[in-house]
Amino acid sequence: MPTVLLIGSGAREHALARTLLQGTPELQLHAAPGNPGIASEGAVMHSISVTDAHAVSELALRINADLVVIGPEVPLMHGVADAVRAANIACFGPDAAAAAIEGSKAFAKDVMTAANVPTAHAYVCSTIEETQAALDAVAAPGVPFVVKEDGLAAGKGVVVTPNRDAALAHARTCIDGGSSVLIEEYLDGPEVSLFFVCDGTNVRALIPAADFKRAFDNDEGPNTGGMGAYAPLRWVPDDLAEHVKETVAQPTIDELARRGTPFIGVLYAGLALTSRGVKVIEFNARFGDPETQVVLALLETALYEVLLSAARGELEALPELQWRSGNAVVVVLAAHGYPGTPRTGDAISGDLESRENSWVLHAGTAMRDDALVTSGGRVLSCVGVGPDLETARERAYERAASMAFDGAFARGDIALGAVSGSGR
Ligand code: AMP
Ligand code: GLY
Repeated sequence: MPTVLLIGSGAREHALARTLLQGTPELQLHAAPGNPGIASEGAVMHSISVTDAHAVSELALRINADLVVIGPEVPLMHGVADAVRAANIACFGPDAAAAAIEGSKAFAKDVMTAANVPTAHAYVCSTIEETQAALDAVAAPGVPFVVKEDGLAAGKGVVVTPNRDAALAHARTCIDGGSSVLIEEYLDGPEVSLFFVCDGTNVRALIPAADFKRAFDNDEGPNTGGMGAYAPLRWVPDDLAEHVKETVAQPTIDELARRGTPFIGVLYAGLALTSRGVKVIEFNARFGDPETQVVLALLETALYEVLLSAARGELEALPELQWRSGNAVVVVLAAHGYPGTPRTGDAISGDLESRENSWVLHAGTAMRDDALVTSGGRVLSCVGVGPDLETARERAYERAASMAFDGAFARGDIALGAVSGSGR
């Protein structure tokens, strides 16, 4: 019986837990720190600090894990994968040096330039004077400014604005806080998230998904970690995944290997389908949240086999991935205040029962005196699947409507443009 230790506590990790167990029912699942949803799947829970590399590798040794799967970026940056591999345990997740592809936007640009990967031109600035010069250099009539903090910011460090003063103000906040900033060329065109499972050398594409990053309907409000997603995408070219594998993922993995930092885990390519071709907006070193909730809903191949093959450097021998024919939509229920400081401790009620066509994944939830309460910004992921996108969407929204907590909010337009044929 294989034993897996899953690191993380979000809805992405709940989706990973669920999909691992569905594909390999005899699997012994352990989670740290996990969440009440992961516990309800039957996982053994461990309350350790997941940024403590030593504590994680000790735990993995103690439970005799065959595989450690690291969900979030923060443990990766802390070298948790390095420590697990050093303990001779297979690990799905890159070493800290390779995870810098997400942790440092400047490093990511450097790798992309070396690998000839199409991306937005960027200026790295560490002073206000450099920032002003860069803003002048990219300024064009009717084209927004893009200002990014160079570091981990949970999707919230980016400001896209037509207003030069607002762009400069964001840069000033970052620089005053000790970060440098990137001033980037604006990329037009719809965004696509595409995940590649990598074993250091070989690369397998998962299916493209669309994520909704802004907090409110019509892509208004601040950037968030993601308020909803759907897959597959009927409006992208059939060969998109293959094309991006050849032009983006494989050259990036090759370049990281050449630098002595092979990448084992998910390379997440955030792409813009621009009028001048597909370009990389950003890389992440992990599964995306909430896209994972829909991509894994459609995966038929046993996830454990996929992740273990990658962790062992044996992806080449893995048969082609199999996908279900349907559609999946996820709607995120967020807490009052998100993406700023969310209010916590609100009682959660509703239908948590998993059914074949819809289910609820936990993220910011906790048990308090036997009651389920909110404990974070993105609280629940409500997933619906169906033979067509419209049905999947209805099921996800029905589930979302069945859940309640004070201050809950969701976007009402997840997958709506694709259903009505009017857009993304
Ligand atoms: P990131 O954290 O780099 O994914 O950026 C968050 C969001 O900001 C992206 O999903 C895009 O919507 C937007 N964004 C980032 N970079 C650019 C760019 N160069 N051009 C246009 N939009 C961008
Ligand atoms: N959904 C965006 C992310 O995971 O970064």
